[in-house]
Amino acid sequence: MINAMHTLTVSTTSHQYPIFIAADIVKLPQVSFAPFFTKKIVIICNETIAPLYLSQWQKYFSQLNCEQFSIILPDGEKYKNWQTLNLIYDGLMQNHAERQTTLIALGGGVIGDMVGFAAATYQRGAPFIQIPTTLLSQVDSSVGGKTAINHPLGKNMIGAFYQPQAVIIDLNSLKTLPQREFSAGMAEVIKYALLGDIEFLSWLEKNIDALMALDEALLSEAVYHCCQMKARIVGIDEKENGIRALLNLGHTFAHAIEAQMGYGNWLHGEAVAAGMVLACRLSENMGLISSANTRRVINLLTQAKLPVTPPKMTFDAWLNHMSHDKKVQDGRMRFIILESLGQAKLADDISSKMLKETLEMYISN
Ligand code: NAD
Ligand code: GLY
Repeated sequence: MINAMHTLTVSTTSHQYPIFIAADIVKLPQVSFAPFFTKKIVIICNETIAPLYLSQWQKYFSQLNCEQFSIILPDGEKYKNWQTLNLIYDGLMQNHAERQTTLIALGGGVIGDMVGFAAATYQRGAPFIQIPTTLLSQVDSSVGGKTAINHPLGKNMIGAFYQPQAVIIDLNSLKTLPQREFSAGMAEVIKYALLGDIEFLSWLEKNIDALMALDEALLSEAVYHCCQMKARIVGIDEKENGIRALLNLGHTFAHAIEAQMGYGNWLHGEAVAAGMVLACRLSENMGLISSANTRRVINLLTQAKLPVTPPKMTFDAWLNHMSHDKKVQDGRMRFIILESLGQAKLADDISSKMLKETLEMYISN
């Protein structure tokens, strides 16, 4: 039986590229990714991914007669920094990578973001391909060209917008993903529903148990739907001057949680889940949505095994972390709020009093 494959195109003003989605994608006889690769390639992954997926892709590129080498990095958000980025540059230089060498990011969002930034900067720009292996990276980070590393004072602070040549999504890789990581990806899936698609929210509510049990057909639909939404948004606003900011629903709070707790201790998706509940509470306090709406969101996040309350921190710590966020503009903090479930908007006029009321239960002395 030939597995069904979804394909779609991301079209920005500067670049167009395909996204392929299927289970066991390397084995699909009807697909050749050859046009997207140059003669020489480098696969970059981490110590966790290498034993799981490196050899299948090495074999695939041997069949395409690519000259290839690989770079294996340490695993973890705490390694998303200059030192690890330098390991990529070291490997590229030692193996005489050229400007035409294709960098292949095989892994989750950490690998994708770092390899993307290495590609953007190596010899002023080398081609790169995303092969995302986590749910979060399949529905969000591999699409849209945001690449970055962390700075000790702020997450994803050093980076570039740099689009890949293609995104190749193998749903099979989700089978080896730890459950906690899968749930973290579900937070981003739920985010799409909340920010722009109430019907998708109902669909997720109906299918959440089967999705959590990795039903392949439903997962394929969910990943495809999220990629479609992301492709549409990025196509309109590649550099986040407008609508793309809506993808940051819950993220201002989430980045504060991640920074306070130490990168990697709360997974990004977990922080986004708690952040989305806070965004609901803020919207509720502003009289936009009802407490029943917030409960609906909490229920779905809970079914996806995600945290729905943030850790306690002082109000100064909340403010301090949130004021370092990339979304700060002209010194004003910006929040994505919900006008209704399925309809988000940007707000840059949230008073300190309103914020304090929203965070009240999560402020320590
Ligand atoms: P991750 O890359 O750290 O992966 C999570 C863990 O799962 C890691 O230990 C990884 O080695 C392991 N793993 C990955 N695939 C696996 C598989 N198939 N089987 C078993 N283990 C596997 O985390 P993530 O959630 O994918 O990405 C989070 C990162 O993405 C953050 O740094 C965040 O800032 C970034 N991000 C970027 C964007 C963007 O638009 N560029 C959007 C959202 C998040
Ligand atoms: N994850 C947010 C964005 O890609 O814009």
